[in-house]
Amino acid sequence: MKIVHTIKALNEQLADVKYKALVPTMGNLHEGHLRLMDAAHSKSQLHKGISIASIFVNRLQFGPHEDFDRYPRTLENDCALLAKRGCDLVFAPDESELYPEPQTYKVSPPPDLADILEGHFRPGFFTGVCTVVMKLFSLIQPQSAIFGKKDYQQLMIIKKMVKQFNLPIDILGLDTLRADDGLALSSRNGYLSIEERLKAVELYQSIQNLAQLIKARATHGIELCQESEKKLKGAGWAVDYISLCHQSDLSLCTPSSKGNWVVLAAAKIGKTRLIDNIEINF
Ligand code: PAF
Repeated sequence: MKIVHTIKALNEQLADVKYKALVPTMGNLHEGHLRLMDAAHSKSQLHKGISIASIFVNRLQFGPHEDFDRYPRTLENDCALLAKRGCDLVFAPDESELYPEPQTYKVSPPPDLADILEGHFRPGFFTGVCTVVMKLFSLIQPQSAIFGKKDYQQLMIIKKMVKQFNLPIDILGLDTLRADDGLALSSRNGYLSIEERLKAVELYQSIQNLAQLIKARATHGIELCQESEKKLKGAGWAVDYISLCHQSDLSLCTPSSKGNWVVLAAAKIGKTRLIDNIEINF
């Protein structure tokens, strides 16, 4: 496995490579990321190409009071893990390499997708994500890129971006990997104290319960979302949202909604903000 930090070295590694499968990450990798890497590795084997992981903590997608500074940088350990999963190339640029001048041109996704849910609570987040992902796509020009469904809204926004810009990239979304108790794996779980970690599963339990009730009653479930929110608040969580949306465009479900749905939630336990979601397929 090669590790490169500059665009020049990246280009040298990519010369003459016909198929590239990319897993974009911010590092501090866990088994969820490594499963994405496994998928990239299989794809690259199938197409006789290479698998690539990018590691870059993207300042543009962090709000002024968010965790950019304390986001763990664990490059050495990340590379050791990636090497064991068949990753061929790691692109880990520093900020001055990816943003040599202020990034004044940005990719801003449409407000109906990007200013709701996560975007409502993290203004500018998806512009930051789309801008860096577009830059990575433009530098690496992968044939496929793999993302986790835990960041459900991110995955949808990137898929639509790729479609609207006619990028010849196959975007794959993989199911969320969970700990034994059901907590979705996330780099931010590392912020949790022992007591918070024990409580953290309540978020998943709450949306799982909600999804089961909604499915069983085949009802729109808005009151059920409000009830779940109230219960979580009662259990000490600061809830940003628990919403029932259409899988197709993340618009809120109404009593007459058709199609498949998804419950999306974000809440804070102590200082740590966690997100999760469950698809409801009828
Ligand atoms: O999901 C992430 O880790 C990030 O948002 C991404 C896609 C790597 C962009 O910085």
